[in-house]
Amino acid sequence: MRIDILTLFPNMMSMFFEESILKRAQKKGLAEVVFHDLHDYSLTRYGSVDDYPYGGAAGMVMSVEPLANCIEALQAERHYDDVIYTAPDGEMFSQPMANQLSLAQNLIVLCGHYKGVDERVREHFITREISIGDYVLTGGELAAAVICDAVIRLVPGVIGDEQSALADSYQDGLVAPPEYTRPPEFRGWRVPDVLLSGNHQKIEQWRMEQAIQRTKERRPDLLKKQDNNKTTIL
Ligand code: ADE
Repeated sequence: MRIDILTLFPNMMSMFFEESILKRAQKKGLAEVVFHDLHDYSLTRYGSVDDYPYGGAAGMVMSVEPLANCIEALQAERHYDDVIYTAPDGEMFSQPMANQLSLAQNLIVLCGHYKGVDERVREHFITREISIGDYVLTGGELAAAVICDAVIRLVPGVIGDEQSALADSYQDGLVAPPEYTRPPEFRGWRVPDVLLSGNHQKIEQWRMEQAIQRTKERRPDLLKKQDNNKTTIL
């Protein structure tokens, strides 16, 4: 998988991808993340990438030309499955969306900034707009990092134990059950006996019960969503 990230702050972004699992994914050749500084695609002598909005509103808007130049240069080299724009008014990011995006070969992620981008970019180049939550960030870089992290870790081979990516919270519409490691007892706080029993069937059953219980307590909305889906399918 290749992800091209279009940003005004490539240095801020690259640090994040040079550590841990994301670094390993790139080293193994399973994921390639390429940063593009939008200033390099500016048509002006000073590399400006934004301008005042028509109509006199406050703030600056990212201009259409540098974005069109950059996206078209990339599209001339390869086919992209999606051109994503990170924006607070986009579709809410979720695990099913991460699963779907992890099947892509090539993605472009445009990080928004200032007041946003010239609407013509959204109309003519963007195929998918994604928000990571109902709050406004200074820019789309953090959102792009969140999306890339959630997507790249799902690419087969990135996480050693693929079972563990599939057992994540939200993969089955439930939050994850509690986990324990050694020692079996600390200050009198014991690991639940069933986990030490060696009975895998019982352990699986306990995990499922815990996951359902936790989901009821912490994220009842997830259970409601599943009920709604069932109703729709029926
Ligand atoms: N840019 C600013 N806020 C954002 C958000 N919540 N999600 C995605 N991109 C953003």
